[in-house]
Amino acid sequence: LSIKIDPNIYALVKQTSLPEDLGFGKYFSPIMVSAHYQNNRWQNLCLKPYESLVLDPATMVFHYGQSIFEGMKAYRNNDSLHIYRPIDHAKRFQLSACRIAIPELPVEMFVTAVTELTRASAPLIPQDEIFTFYIRPFIFADQIGLGVKASESYLFLVIGSPSGDYFSDQAVRVMIERKYYRSAASGGTGAVKTSGNYACSLLSDYNAKVAGFHQSLWLDSKSGKYIEEMTGMNFFVVRKGKLVTPPLNNSILSGITRNTLFYLAKELGIEVVEKPLPIDEVTSDITNGQIEECFICGTAAGITSVALLGEESGQSYALHSVNGPITTKLRQALNNAQRGKIPVPKEWILKI
Ligand code: COI
Repeated sequence: LSIKIDPNIYALVKQTSLPEDLGFGKYFSPIMVSAHYQNNRWQNLCLKPYESLVLDPATMVFHYGQSIFEGMKAYRNNDSLHIYRPIDHAKRFQLSACRIAIPELPVEMFVTAVTELTRASAPLIPQDEIFTFYIRPFIFADQIGLGVKASESYLFLVIGSPSGDYFSDQAVRVMIERKYYRSAASGGTGAVKTSGNYACSLLSDYNAKVAGFHQSLWLDSKSGKYIEEMTGMNFFVVRKGKLVTPPLNNSILSGITRNTLFYLAKELGIEVVEKPLPIDEVTSDITNGQIEECFICGTAAGITSVALLGEESGQSYALHSVNGPITTKLRQALNNAQRGKIPVPKEWILKI
């Protein structure tokens, strides 16, 4: 598959220097990939300098939010560089596109785009294993007009950010969100990565931080009784040595890290149970010690231990074991899998 490469990009990458303290998603490779959707088809990919976009105020995405994204990573393993599970990310991107009437991007185009961006950005990806190259593919509606309808033109872009950990803390405090809901009970967009899912989480995120928490935990919007997920991560508890996580319904994102953990748990002989988790049962099992550990997982966050669950009003339930043995064992296995240090299904690792 062809991609047009602007020859200026190599000098740009060479001239760029990054600070030592990268944080997450703050600094970017000075290059990006773009492709337009016009005249009923995706046009050619282009790898070019990172630049600001000039958009008409009536560009549809600003008004009706027709936009999707992915989050994925490239890792170094000694001298080699690879992207983790790009085909799975490409397929999920297609599902997200379909749900909000964006034309599907072919898997090969997605994989070529992330591969070429990573290859050309390689000099900016630190050797040190605390860092990764966080890749952010996205598509938005760029037709001009205020009629409410699916756009006829789109822009696909991929940018990349040499990054450290998403959470700088060792463990997070999680607020049980009782007032707002992230997604409709059924037939909504919770199962895909549309920007609107994140927009509707932000008030809760703000309130959670004011109340001293790091993150909100979403409950199902039909009954308000069952745990769904965090805004950008899936949720797991360890109960009597087993991993328990809510089953995928049509409002929970099918996390690629979640799926990797299923694979790794099996390898490690840890049983995984997908079952509805009533919030009241979870808080009482934390209190009585039946739930020993709890963590959240995602591409950006890896495995992050939960220190406590709490209500906005103040009542809180502290986990007996923070960064406990199973969380730590799985985190180690996840890092090894993502870094290509232990065997995983071969299509998960795409060498650059
Ligand atoms: C990721 O884990 O890559 C995500 O997309 C979640 C992010 C929005 C924090």
